[in-house]
Amino acid sequence: MFVFLSISLVSLKMVASSLSILSSTFSRLKIIPKPWHTSTLKSLRSHKQRQLQPLSPIWSPLTCSLNSLKKHFYPSNNEIMASKDDLVILGIETSCDDTAAAVVRGNGEILSQVVSSQADLLVKYGGVAPLFAEEAHSQVIDQVVQEALNKASLTECDLSAVAVTIGPGLGLCLRVGVQKAHKIAGSFNLPIIGIHHMEAHALVARLVERELQFPFVTLLISGGHNLLILAHGLGHYIQLGTTLDDAIGEAYDKTAKWLGLDMRKSGGPAIEELAREGDADSVKFSIPMRQHKDCNFSYAGLKTQVRLAIESRNINAEIPISSASFQDRVSRADIAASFQRVAVLHIEEKCGRAIEWALKLEPSIKYLVVSGGVASNQYVRDRLDQVVKKNGLQLVCPPRSLCTDNGVMVAWTGIEHFRVGRYDPPPPVNESEHFVYDLRPRWPLGEEYSEGRSEARSLRKARVYPSLTSLIQASQQQA
Ligand code: KG4
Ligand code: ZN
Repeated sequence: MFVFLSISLVSLKMVASSLSILSSTFSRLKIIPKPWHTSTLKSLRSHKQRQLQPLSPIWSPLTCSLNSLKKHFYPSNNEIMASKDDLVILGIETSCDDTAAAVVRGNGEILSQVVSSQADLLVKYGGVAPLFAEEAHSQVIDQVVQEALNKASLTECDLSAVAVTIGPGLGLCLRVGVQKAHKIAGSFNLPIIGIHHMEAHALVARLVERELQFPFVTLLISGGHNLLILAHGLGHYIQLGTTLDDAIGEAYDKTAKWLGLDMRKSGGPAIEELAREGDADSVKFSIPMRQHKDCNFSYAGLKTQVRLAIESRNINAEIPISSASFQDRVSRADIAASFQRVAVLHIEEKCGRAIEWALKLEPSIKYLVVSGGVASNQYVRDRLDQVVKKNGLQLVCPPRSLCTDNGVMVAWTGIEHFRVGRYDPPPPVNESEHFVYDLRPRWPLGEEYSEGRSEARSLRKARVYPSLTSLIQASQQQA
């Protein structure tokens, strides 16, 4: 059951403070029931004179816990109209091991982009250790955001809103970015937009390729996710496939670690480079999940095959590749190349099927968007280009710096949602230290395509947040 509350017209500050006790944080679940035609940057910039007209906040069991009352706002009619180009949004990303911030204009102009990666920690722990990653984010977040503003030659006063990743990702890490976003938004009276990390990976393609309209198919490949999605519209996604265990990026990272490669730039680039020296047909790994005629993935088995191959060749990861003998190096390169070939063949097969399914559902689809860290791999791009061409589509891959985690994708996705009125009002200036932020470490992007369900099911049973799409649909039904 949904509960509606209405609030009389009051100043934004009054509304924000009167609801602050009930509101645990922000979300993007609110749909403005009117078209976003009075959207304004100028009005949002002139915070002091600003009068926002609150709509009925929605409290829904799907979207909110008792202490997270949602608020809807849209600028009142007397606000000055401004073009979308006038929007300036700061994006903050801390969901994994990169601390990133960027400032992007409504017209897609990237004013600045700063990424601080945790290379030393990756080398030391051979992967992301949440407690150390959180500490590393905390150490650099202020500096990264300041640098992004400096590079854009702006101050917080020039911003229209702050967008920040709220999930999925590591809870401890997400918290650092969200806390920073709240601090800025509270101090400078700025609206705040909670971003889904995987949606941001997909939508940044629309910044790069202006022709890219919905619907399109997208393959999102990163360290934690393997998703095949039919993107119907903003916030409206159907999950055609996902991974049942590990993501491809995790398989690249582990393979690199076991082969004793330099992990400073993460495992993927190290494998890509070494694979160029190897014979991709020399080690016979089997392609995962061929018997399942679905669009799901599995990389745990391939990881095991790689580990066994490494053990059987007596490769010692303690000896860095730079010190390995010639024969040892050849062996490692062969494994890297063979692993990459099979890991990508698995993607090619599932991607081909996903395109077929998607075209049946939406015959007008013209593009496959491939994004996420692994999409920066040239071999992956070349192979997928062939799959896409075979199906008469066009491949869209953002540039490498926008495939791996970055602040631009967060800012841009913020712009997309802000334009349709999905944002939250500024938090109070002095938020309590014990404020409970709305973080969504496990947060699906879309609803599962029912006809594409696989008999092979994930064994993971951890609690998952309702998908972004189901939350948006639920709130649309209320509007
Ligand atoms: O999207 P991303 O930057 O962070 C997550 O959301 O996980 O993706 C990181 C993953 C890591 O597993 C990394 O090894 C992989 O992307 N990656 C690559 C390449 N560059 C990054 N994998 C293969 N080839 C690359 N060139
Ligand atoms: Zn990512």
